[in-house]
Amino acid sequence: MTPNDADPAASTGTPDAKPAIRPLVAGNWKMNGLQEALAQALAVKEAIAASKPATDVMICPPATLLMVLAELSKGGLALGGQDCHAAQSGAHTGDLSAEMLRDSGATAVIVGHSERRADHGETDAIVRAKAEAAHRAGLIAIVCVGETEGQRRAGQTLKVIARQVANSLPREATAANTVLAYEPVWAIGSGLTPTVSDVAEVHTAIRGYASERIGPAAAAMRLLYGGSVKPSNAAELMAADNVNGALVGGASLKAPDFLGIIEAYGS
Ligand code: PGA
Repeated sequence: MTPNDADPAASTGTPDAKPAIRPLVAGNWKMNGLQEALAQALAVKEAIAASKPATDVMICPPATLLMVLAELSKGGLALGGQDCHAAQSGAHTGDLSAEMLRDSGATAVIVGHSERRADHGETDAIVRAKAEAAHRAGLIAIVCVGETEGQRRAGQTLKVIARQVANSLPREATAANTVLAYEPVWAIGSGLTPTVSDVAEVHTAIRGYASERIGPAAAAMRLLYGGSVKPSNAAELMAADNVNGALVGGASLKAPDFLGIIEAYGS
């Protein structure tokens, strides 16, 4: 993946800044994708090789497809894992280390996705340990945060996000090795999205929380929005303050939809 080549000095770090951060559109295939899915990834790879979008593009397939995709896409498409264990190796049946993902061709890994937090009881401390493991292996950590519907209704959104950012983000995180993804749990897979102004409010707050945690590096850190992103809403979401790309679930499974989002984000 092309490193985030934003010049931190070009940004003042003010909350409403829209510095020259190269966007990232990452597709999270979740537990979807048998061999046939490789054709979707190849279609994306070929389209972006031809159109050279103004955004980095990544697919996070199931780990079973990483190695073959890395071989097929040969650097044209960045690849990420969907989770990693905090340890480098050891007696952890069924788990994968960040080093193994790197070895399979990944340059990034998602950590702390709400489905992992909910289904596997992952706490902020566990997520932080996984992000640190990603850094140890030289991977970009895509750290996910987001409130549940109940928390939003109770007016707890910013409090929850502040806690998640403070506790999930390694203190040594930089704009080059870490991406933060805001994914309201209630927006994932539901077809619902927050309003653009709600997204802007939360993203601006996240940049502030990240800056409290890691300092000036937060100014150039990519903040992705995720949750029911599709070609028809991608452009307006991208235009929101402090949104620097998208983490896309369902719509990343079909190349035309994913490419529609890339076009909206990269134009
Ligand atoms: P969705 O998923 O785009 O299908 O809502 C997003 C995600 O979980 O990353």
